[in-house]
Amino acid sequence: MTPPPLAFCFLLLCHAAAAATAAGGGTGGKWDVLLSNIGISAMHMQLLHTDRVVMFDRTNFGSSNISLPDGKCVHDPDDPPSRRDCTAHSVEYDVASNSVRPLTLLTNIWCSSGAVLPDGTLVQTGGNGRGDHAVRLYKPCSGNSSCDWQEITNGLAQRRWYATSQILPDGRQIIVGGRAKFNYEFYPKKTAAEGSYNLPFLYQTFQPGSENNLYPFVLLNIDGNLFIFANNQAILFDYTNSKVVRTYPTLPGGDPRNYPSTGSAVLLPLKSNTAEVLVCGGAPKGSYTRAHNNSDFVEALDTCGRIRINDPDPQWVMETMPLARVMGDMLLLPNGNVLIINGASMGTAAWELGRSPVLSPVFYYPDKQPGSRFEVLNPTSTPRMYHSSSILLRDGRVLVGGSNPHVFYNFTNVLFPTDLTLQSFSPPYLDPQFGYLRPWILAPVSGSEIGYGQDILIRFSIGPGGPDESAIMVTMIAPSFATHSFSMNQRLLILDSWDVKPVARSEYQLRARMPGSGNLAPAGYYLIFVVHKDIPSEGIWIHIS
Ligand SMILES: *[C@@H]1O[C@H](CO)[C@@H](O)[C@H](O)[C@H]1NC(C)=O
Ligand SMILES: *[C@@H]1O[C@H](CO)[C@@H](O)[C@H](O)[C@H]1NC(C)=O
Ligand SMILES: *[C@@H]1O[C@H](CO)[C@@H](O)[C@H](O)[C@H]1NC(C)=O
Ligand SMILES: *[C@@H]1O[C@H](CO)[C@@H](O)[C@H](O)[C@H]1NC(C)=O
Repeated sequence: MTPPPLAFCFLLLCHAAAAATAAGGGTGGKWDVLLSNIGISAMHMQLLHTDRVVMFDRTNFGSSNISLPDGKCVHDPDDPPSRRDCTAHSVEYDVASNSVRPLTLLTNIWCSSGAVLPDGTLVQTGGNGRGDHAVRLYKPCSGNSSCDWQEITNGLAQRRWYATSQILPDGRQIIVGGRAKFNYEFYPKKTAAEGSYNLPFLYQTFQPGSENNLYPFVLLNIDGNLFIFANNQAILFDYTNSKVVRTYPTLPGGDPRNYPSTGSAVLLPLKSNTAEVLVCGGAPKGSYTRAHNNSDFVEALDTCGRIRINDPDPQWVMETMPLARVMGDMLLLPNGNVLIINGASMGTAAWELGRSPVLSPVFYYPDKQPGSRFEVLNPTSTPRMYHSSSILLRDGRVLVGGSNPHVFYNFTNVLFPTDLTLQSFSPPYLDPQFGYLRPWILAPVSGSEIGYGQDILIRFSIGPGGPDESAIMVTMIAPSFATHSFSMNQRLLILDSWDVKPVARSEYQLRARMPGSGNLAPAGYYLIFVVHKDIPSEGIWIHIS
């Protein structure tokens, strides 16, 4: 996997020279079609530490376009007794071989949530029909072994459909809300009898007729409490004592940001002791009813609100995006910038209610001056409407898939056909012209076990110019569970790093300190990147505990 350093530098020089003549300057990123048909529409995605991505949509769309392995067929108890489904509704995508294999689901997993346990097992929670109380475990495997879903039929105390999950410092996940559920619960349970706990905030933010509080944005604050945003409100919540610790001001403008007025949110890169949240896009108040009842598709919101959530008197600061967007995904990139991608500029989420796809992703640079934080990037030609998703891969590309605003798979006679393709977006930092700046991590080896607060030596190679020590940064990213424009468990830490020095020809070493607690980074697998002048290396997997 690691190229010999000399050949690597040689290649970089070639790339740099070629790109300098061909491109000669600014670049807005590059789109590629990875697979033209993965058999399902990638509504939910999770990257695992095996560099495989688990994806699924729903089991009651009818047949998908990929057969179950070995001629297998299954029966969903919600279907008529005679119906046997011989197609798969979940696949595993292998990044290295760019191929998919079908996985087996017995109950409906549609519009659900998930998080990865400290041992790397994906724990998916909830869904629809008989699957709405189910918990499904996926233990990753590598090589050609055929790991598959294990389903626990009554793993949840309540139905969870359109709920949000967040992994906690104690290794459990909390599952918050869902349709008509103004409460939360944990998985795994402390005792078999542990039920759910009320969360009146979800009732207070519920808008009759349009909801606007589903898939709440749940983010783990650095003090261990949860920042929960729903509709246009936010609280800081102590889930251990079921207590609202703090209530934030209403987001200026008062427009809703959660499903079906779907915007998105991220915890901006964590450094020192500050935590900031950025909420972007969504739909103006009343948009859902106007779209649903009158086919009147209202222009989406073009505003973002940013707030320092641990300030003594936190206030939202509003910013304007260059493009209005509903159903946009927000992704944290290895260099600490935010990518806003997918979605539409009119209407809302839900069946058939989005119009005017926004084809251009946008960067948000958290550290630039207000007024110069956004940049519009190169467009795709593929609309990614309702039920699309995107995640970051270890190599720095962004995987983009899904889009199915219809109750079934509909490929013809519809405005936005069901999309079974998989694309990648390579942000400008992957442009070959920046290859000479790009570090390559040589050590530690991928999969290394590292303790909290521990210092690690990171060894990397870089082109003949060597690194500019003042422009080196080490980042650590939790792979997220993406669906419905929200990346659950998404988190980026900027690690303290110092002592950059040469250790061999074209090879350098630096020290970085791992986060000190599970509040900063719940135990589990993370990607570590060395970033030089905003150009990230490929990530390596590490496991913190
Ligand atoms: C998938 O679609 C192709 C092209 O339409 C078709 O030939 C094939 O039979 C489909 N496969 C399944 C399993 O539905
Ligand atoms: C995995 O299976 C594929 C297809 O059967 C085969 O081409 C490949 O060589 C196998 N890889 C390993 C590591 O066994
Ligand atoms: C929109 O339509 C639904 C039923 O389709 C109805 O219950 C609701 O009252 C309507 N809302 C408005 C504001 O017309
Ligand atoms: C989608 O296809 C189904 C049949 O498979 C059909 O009943 C439905 O009307 C189609 N939906 C749209 C929006 O055309």
